[in-house]
Amino acid sequence: MSLIKEPVVIHKGLDNVYVKESTICFIDGEASKLFYRGYSIEELADHSTYEETAFLLIYGWLPTASQLREFTGNLESHRSLEPEILQLIKEFPAHSDPMDVLRTAVSALGLFDPQPMSDDISVRVAKAVLILAKVPTIIAAFERYRNHKDPVPPKGHLSQAAEFLYMLTGNDPDPYDAHVMDVALILHAEHEMNASTFACTVTASTLADMYSIITSGIGTLRGPLHGGANEAALRTVLEVGDSSKAESYVVDALAQKKRIMGFGHRVYKTWDPRYLILKKVAGELAVRKGQTQLFDTALAIEMSARKHLEGTPIFPNVDSYSGIVFHMLGIQTDLFTPIFAMSRIAGWTAHAIEYLQANRLIRPKALYVGATGLPYTQIELRTGKLEEHRMP
Ligand code: ACO
Repeated sequence: MSLIKEPVVIHKGLDNVYVKESTICFIDGEASKLFYRGYSIEELADHSTYEETAFLLIYGWLPTASQLREFTGNLESHRSLEPEILQLIKEFPAHSDPMDVLRTAVSALGLFDPQPMSDDISVRVAKAVLILAKVPTIIAAFERYRNHKDPVPPKGHLSQAAEFLYMLTGNDPDPYDAHVMDVALILHAEHEMNASTFACTVTASTLADMYSIITSGIGTLRGPLHGGANEAALRTVLEVGDSSKAESYVVDALAQKKRIMGFGHRVYKTWDPRYLILKKVAGELAVRKGQTQLFDTALAIEMSARKHLEGTPIFPNVDSYSGIVFHMLGIQTDLFTPIFAMSRIAGWTAHAIEYLQANRLIRPKALYVGATGLPYTQIELRTGKLEEHRMP
């Protein structure tokens, strides 16, 4: 029972609730289609770069050569970290989850900005580009510190993907590895009104600063129901270990009502188009790296799961191969979700800015079903436990 008399529909999980009109991303989950600003994900993965895609998402159009030069120059000029931020990262316990490190470091960036707040959209965008530039450096610096190594300063004149790989190891990345990382960043850059993008939008709607907006996104992506499935999918492949064991793993898992990681999606009820792209990339990378056993095991799990889930709307998603790709690039498993964040900042920014252009404070309601008018109980008469205070 509720005190509200008119009929109320509760949209738990906000399924099918639209919060704004948007020109940023379109997903057709029945037809395996994903578009960023009208361009198909296949076209972008084949022809674009992460920088171009980030520009497209944030500004709305594909950049001209001079606009791209200016944008990449901006990223390059902001990529280094202030000594205070590096010192802070150095102080973090080595056992910290890299997503916690990222969340805290991005928040700290705001402390070093003398004017984090601005009503001017172009100033907000400039601050988002600054964060976009610094996030790979934060992740790489923590990875170095926790391995008792000094951070590697950005080299300059490298793409965001290549620069990240360079800062992790201090070695020039293989161009193919850098290309693979670039494609992975493109594929993760945007995905409509998912939980972390919504969190960013809610924070933006309060007119908070860009650091708070991105920090909200990182905090939300951290949860295992959002980011994190790529790590779980890789762990499954490593545990199964060999393609001959895939069938029994899948049969046992499904019999125990366990989920096959890298399968199923709230929006896609057919192939996730990003999965199709990453699977091809993973296969090529496996041959180049001599890690075909890993790929073959993943493939065997996929084939077996597809057979046993046939007739259901549960298909492979992007995470079925993304973890394997990052693993073959030599990246630690707990950095997969930070890499997801590093890419998704483009989408978060695009949605926050779009929402702010026609802002309305996001303030939904909760249907109160509790009691009212309870007598205030004297301390010695209280039961000290939760009473049932629902309306009769
Ligand atoms: N393996 C086996 N069964 C599954 C799977 C799976 N991966 N996913 C869903 N199901 C089953 C559920 O058990 C449930 O069965 P039931 O009706 O018999 O109880 C049914 O499908 C519906 O499940 P829901 O959770 O309601 O479906 P939803 O579409 O909301 O789930 C989700 C989406 C959370 C992603 C789910 O498919 C899942 O947990 N997948 C595994 C984790 C994963 O890969 N996540 C990455 C998603 S992509 C991304 O976030 C970048």
